[in-house]
Amino acid sequence: MAAQQWTAAQIPALDGKKVLITGANSGIGYQAAVQLARHGAHVVLACRSAEKGELAIRSLQKELPGAKVELSLLDVSSIADVHRFAAEFLKRGIFLDILINNAGVMALNPRQVTPEGFERQFATNHLGHFALTGLLLPSIMAAPAPRVVTVASLAHRGGKIHFDDLQLAKDYKPWTAYNQSKLANILFARELARRAIGSPLISIPVHPGVSQTSIVANGPGSSDLKTRVLFTFAKFLTQSDEAGALPTLYAATSPNAKPAEYIGPDGFMEMKGAPVVVKPRANALDEAVGQRLWRVSEELTGVVYPPLS
Ligand SMILES: NC(=O)c1ccc[n+]([C@@H]2O[C@H](COP(=O)([O-])OP(=O)(O)OC[C@H]3O[C@@H](n4cnc5c(N)ncnc54)[C@H](OP(=O)(O)O)[C@@H]3O)[C@@H](O)[C@H]2O)c1
Repeated sequence: MAAQQWTAAQIPALDGKKVLITGANSGIGYQAAVQLARHGAHVVLACRSAEKGELAIRSLQKELPGAKVELSLLDVSSIADVHRFAAEFLKRGIFLDILINNAGVMALNPRQVTPEGFERQFATNHLGHFALTGLLLPSIMAAPAPRVVTVASLAHRGGKIHFDDLQLAKDYKPWTAYNQSKLANILFARELARRAIGSPLISIPVHPGVSQTSIVANGPGSSDLKTRVLFTFAKFLTQSDEAGALPTLYAATSPNAKPAEYIGPDGFMEMKGAPVVVKPRANALDEAVGQRLWRVSEELTGVVYPPLS
């Protein structure tokens, strides 16, 4: 398999490339930013918190003096803010070579609703990134070999798209919402890849296995038994945030990466290891569901994609 034992040392020179990473102030997004900047890319860290974003920039510049990094504020759970952000980005008139749809929240309890009326996990993990990618297309498609990487999860396996109650207003369960949003990530990335056939755009879904990041503290915290067992007691089954960023980095930069292939770790139950092509569950390969989700996402966000090829 092309990706076996792939490490960050294999990232090619990225001088002149512009990268945008959502949720880049911690965890996988931050580690991906470090490696991409180390290899010469200009990395825009799109973060919702100015304070956390500035800390991340300072830490990155300390680690890599002279790194080409910048902070741009974005709350990806807000479609209005995604519009503002994209309009400002497009005004700069630059190519976007690599977009990494990474920001995420997990298993929020109790249910939270954004000011626009969307369940927060669905809004952050899927709808915001759907809108962001669509609105940035003029910049993305202007790049010579653009890539869009979308960070999904093993959690997609238990997921279902609840078309009759997408916001889970009738029956909210924290993990049901997370699973749905992460399934949506793969369906979106694969449908984008299908629509981009015949164009230079490569869209790739990835997952980081189980990685030690802030996702638990930001989400269910230690009160959730399933999470506590997995992330605390089964630490030997999990990996660092640096290792968790490798599937993202492989998809973003490897010349062997192919559209729609799902990249994840090669270890026991895909929880840790080197990035390779892995198989999503059948629910993530259902094109009819992917196309229906696409139509609904266009309706909910008001962002309608033009033909890509
Ligand atoms: N860690 C794992 O084991 C694991 C497994 C499967 C998938 N994933 C996925 O990996 C991705 C990265 O998560 P992580 O594990 O690195 O966790 P993390 O350390 O908590 O990073 C998540 C990032 O997303 C940001 N974020 C959350 N809501 C946002 C919003 N509305 N607008 C902009 N940024 C927002 C967070 O910002 P703040 O710091 O401001 O909260 C943080 O920077 C997520 O999509 C997650 O679902 C992680």
